[in-house]
Amino acid sequence: IAVDPFDFVIFGGSGDLSRRKLLPALYQRDRDGQLPAEARIIGTSRRKVTDEEFQKVAREAIESFVPSADMDAEVLERFVARVGYVSMDATGSEGWDVLAKRLNEEKDRIRVFYLSTAPDIFGPICEQINAHGLITDKSRVVIEKPLGKDLESAQALNASVGKIFPETSVYRIDHYLGKETVQNLMALRFANSLFEPVWNARYIDHVQITVAEEVGLESRAGYYDTAGAMRDMIQNHIMQLLCLTAMEVPTSLDADSVRDEKLKVLHSLKPMNPTQVAHQTVRGQYTAGASTKGPVRGYLEELGHPTSMTETFVALKAEVGNWRWAGVPFYLRTGKRLPSRVSEIVVQFRPIPHSVFEENAGQLQANRLVIRVQPDEGVKLWLMIKDPGPGGMRLQHVPLDMSFAKAFAVRSPDAYERLIMDVVRGNQTLFMRGDEVEAAWRWVDPIMDAWMSSGEFPKTYRAGTWGPSASVALLERDGRSWHEE
Ligand code: BG6
Repeated sequence: IAVDPFDFVIFGGSGDLSRRKLLPALYQRDRDGQLPAEARIIGTSRRKVTDEEFQKVAREAIESFVPSADMDAEVLERFVARVGYVSMDATGSEGWDVLAKRLNEEKDRIRVFYLSTAPDIFGPICEQINAHGLITDKSRVVIEKPLGKDLESAQALNASVGKIFPETSVYRIDHYLGKETVQNLMALRFANSLFEPVWNARYIDHVQITVAEEVGLESRAGYYDTAGAMRDMIQNHIMQLLCLTAMEVPTSLDADSVRDEKLKVLHSLKPMNPTQVAHQTVRGQYTAGASTKGPVRGYLEELGHPTSMTETFVALKAEVGNWRWAGVPFYLRTGKRLPSRVSEIVVQFRPIPHSVFEENAGQLQANRLVIRVQPDEGVKLWLMIKDPGPGGMRLQHVPLDMSFAKAFAVRSPDAYERLIMDVVRGNQTLFMRGDEVEAAWRWVDPIMDAWMSSGEFPKTYRAGTWGPSASVALLERDGRSWHEE
């Protein structure tokens, strides 16, 4: 179904995010017939290029980042014709009149301002948008990580954007929330009666959330070295996955119902003091090793900075202090240069209280629900069954296996496709509210402070391994182990 007519302004239009994600996502939506004929996309940046030159950038981005099976020459022409460009100084005065003139040709449209720029100019750009009278009751602003580097800077950022745009017009992207499998977590939990009765400390032993990447620094050394795995992945993506796993059933899928419940989870996370940080968290940094594509350099060599203490791996044990989750550890883990790209949520149920299978006691394993976020998206529920055959009551642990690719013969849309269209439609359910971002920092800050004041270097791990051995020990101490298939 086509959305209402809109103008989509991308600040930082020729940047990496715009080329890799935003333009390809808009193209895909156009291909599916969701963009109305009037929709326009306007790139902006300081570069002095013409509409035609920017159209060429857009065309090349689509040719490079859209799978060839999805390329359609007619759609590409139609799409590129929507694209325009305004050269401007986003925080100065140059170019704004030109942008205003273009936008004001169509005053009644939805206006999306997508700030794909450095976060320190989010506030100043909002000021300029306002100063040039570009805000209408149909405008929205989209911002994305890094949303601060700690609580204080996140509060300052929220305040500077919030001075201009009301919270109902601010869309903070966490692209994990746009992933099909992440949305499916809500379907799984709230559209089935099977799980809710056992979704608590009485039946669940622990939860594991892993987001493992095989890539290293890629071309983002400058940013990554100031962030590290905690700020880059845990504070946002992984904590959002934790919220969706642990939250109470919202009263509806309305944006604030969902976000209120996620916020309660963030508030329930038990803060860690420095002693707990030392026991419950592991920081790692990769050294030279191998990926599936061959030998790779260590983080410090890749970075060209021999003393960086930035972590490329984090494993930690979090606790949600409420009735539902009392005593249930949430083990969170993320890292670069791990053996493979795997994101999954593992819900480990408790063992049965009493076994009647005496001879097979050793084979008994507790139920396990594995929600595979990517790749090979799907859900597996591990159960005990009888090994078929006449050999007595032998048991086996086998999965009920639902692979999305096998079950649904449709293309899985990129997260940005869903999220961009939600911005246009004005649906904030899959976007983070300002107080969520701040609550996540409030929990993360003391952990990072304790790391900094300990002065300890992250533990090293060879590229292509599952992180420092301390990460394995973190679970072993509790008599548990990371899920492996
Ligand atoms: C980004 C991080 O937010 O997510 C990157 O900044 C990371 O470091 C990426 O590689 C992972 O996203 P995905 O969708 O590939 O899992």
